[in-house]
Amino acid sequence: MRIGIGNDHTAVEYKRVISQYIWDTYGYEVVNYGTDSAESFDYPIAGEAVANAVAKGEVDLGIVICGTGIGISLAANKVRGIRCAVCSEPYSAQLSRRHNDSNMLAFGARVVGIELAKMIVDAWLTAEFEGGRHQRRVDMIMAIEAKQ
Ligand code: RB5
Repeated sequence: MRIGIGNDHTAVEYKRVISQYIWDTYGYEVVNYGTDSAESFDYPIAGEAVANAVAKGEVDLGIVICGTGIGISLAANKVRGIRCAVCSEPYSAQLSRRHNDSNMLAFGARVVGIELAKMIVDAWLTAEFEGGRHQRRVDMIMAIEAKQ
């Protein structure tokens, strides 16, 4: 399993800690598409980069982090095939996989503490899509995208 990760300047340390946590806990390779500098960095660049990597199958799943998680998720969701869920707690993260088949997770470095962020990542990485009626609804979402 390969995880793409991206961030802006607000989340350099979160990206580093979460990347290490994923490697230590799951042994998943984490590919860095974000900035490692404290200099101001435009979050759409990282959101698009991770989303493209997921869409092309270069990585299996993507995680993106900015101040709120909102801007970077909005950018990611503009890439065809991406379903990026912004989550501030584990329940939504788990359900975004089980019901929405999210292929990217976003959270805010200025919103959640780092230990809560690890719990959100755990909930998301360990949940599986349930298919069935949820598949039909995900198909409906993707049909909206196909009409654009
Ligand atoms: C950067 O100041 C901030 O706008 C960004 O990290 C993010 O929160 C945007 O949604």
